[in-house]
Amino acid sequence: MDNHGNGTINIAVLGYGTVGSGVVEVIETNKTAINKRAGAELNIKYILDLRDFPGDPYENKVVHDYSVILNDPEVAVICETMGGIKPAYDFTKQALMAGKSVCTSNKELVASHGPELIAVARENHCNYLFEASVGGGIPIIRPLNYSLTAEKIDAITGILNGTTNYILTKMDKEGAGFEEVLKEAQEKGYAERNPEADVEGYDACRKIAILSSLMCGKNVKYEEIYTEGITKITSADFRYARQMNKSIKLLAMSRDTDRGFFAMVAPFMISREHPLYSVSDVFNAVYVHGNMLGDSMYYGRGAGKLPTASAVVSDVVDCARHLGKTVMCFWENEDVKVTGIEEDEGKFFVRVPAKQKEKAMGVFGSLAEVNAGIADEFAFMTHVMKEKEFNDKIKELGGCINRIRILSA
Ligand code: HSE
Repeated sequence: MDNHGNGTINIAVLGYGTVGSGVVEVIETNKTAINKRAGAELNIKYILDLRDFPGDPYENKVVHDYSVILNDPEVAVICETMGGIKPAYDFTKQALMAGKSVCTSNKELVASHGPELIAVARENHCNYLFEASVGGGIPIIRPLNYSLTAEKIDAITGILNGTTNYILTKMDKEGAGFEEVLKEAQEKGYAERNPEADVEGYDACRKIAILSSLMCGKNVKYEEIYTEGITKITSADFRYARQMNKSIKLLAMSRDTDRGFFAMVAPFMISREHPLYSVSDVFNAVYVHGNMLGDSMYYGRGAGKLPTASAVVSDVVDCARHLGKTVMCFWENEDVKVTGIEEDEGKFFVRVPAKQKEKAMGVFGSLAEVNAGIADEFAFMTHVMKEKEFNDKIKELGGCINRIRILSA
C-alpha cells in the first residue's frame, strides 16, 4: 500500500465530536514534535461526520461517506472517535481488513470486540490500538503491554471514570448536590452522551474489563463483572466517611487469587492513607500490583477532549512507527472464568434505623460503631466476611438504609 511514499502518513478521523476535534487539535498544535517522533508527516486527509462544519479550518476535509476513506489506498491510519458499537464495529473491521490501522477511544467497542479486532489487525499486518479507551490521557495500556511484561499482575484497582470522580469529589468537599455537579461535568465534556453510563458504573465496567483482559492475556467479559453505580450515595454517607477518615470513590477492580478471578465496579470507602484517596475531580488513577514490582500507580486526566485525544494521537505515532507490522498485544479470544462476587470477601459499612441497633449487634456479632451525629440511625463497620454471608445477614436484619464496601488497606 503506497501510503507513506513521500514521508506523509494520511489519516482519517471518524467522528468530529469532542475527542475527534481534539485529535485534530493535538496534531495541529504539536505537529513538529509529533512528526519527528512519528518519522513522517501526519496529514489529516478526511474527517467523517454526518454534519457539515462551515467556517471550520478543516471543513473541506469533511466527508459523509465512509467508503471514500475505506477505498482510498493513501489512508494508512484511522482514528475512530465515534463511540458506540454501530457503525464503529463495521467501520473498524473493514478498515483493518483493508490493512489500515485503527486507533480508538471507544471503550465500549474494545470491551465487546477487542480480541476479535486485534486478531483481524494481526492477520492484516496492521494495528488496533486503544490507549485512549481507559484512563483518558493516562498511559496505562502501553505500560501493561510493554513495561510490565516481567510481572504476574494479580490486582488492579482503578478510579476509571472522570465524571463520577468529579461528582463524588464535589459531594465530599463542597457538599454539592448530585444533579448540579453532573450538569457541570457534562458541560466540561467529561460525561458520556448518556450519563447513565457514567453514574451507573457501566463505563468503568467496560474499562476494567479491558484492563483485566490485558492482565490475564485472555478475555474478561464485561457482562460478567458485578457493577454498581453511585446514585445511592448521599451526603449522609460522606458525613460517616469523614468521621472514619475516609472518602467514597467509585472503584473498578480485579483480583487474580487462589479462590478465583474477581472483578467488580462499586463505590468503596477508602482510607486517607491509600494512594487512591487523593485522586480527585476528573483525575483517574490505576493502581497495579505485580508479584515482583509490588505496587505502581498511573495517574492523570481520565476524561476530556485534549487528554483523551493525546492518547489517541500517541497510538497514531505508534502505528506510524510500525507500518506493515503488528505491535504485540496479548489478549486472546478465550474467556476467563470470572468468579461470582458472593465468594469475594471484605468489610462493609452499614446504616440501619436506630431501632435496629440491638438486632444488628446480634446478627453481626462483633462490629465497630460509627457515630456521625445523624439522628435516628445506627451505623457500623463489619468484620471481614464473604459477600454472601453479608447479604444473608442484611436479609435477616430486614434490609438497611445503605451499605458501602470498605477497601482493605
Ligand atoms: N465519561 C467518561 C468519564 C469519559 O467520565 O470518564 C472518558 O472515558
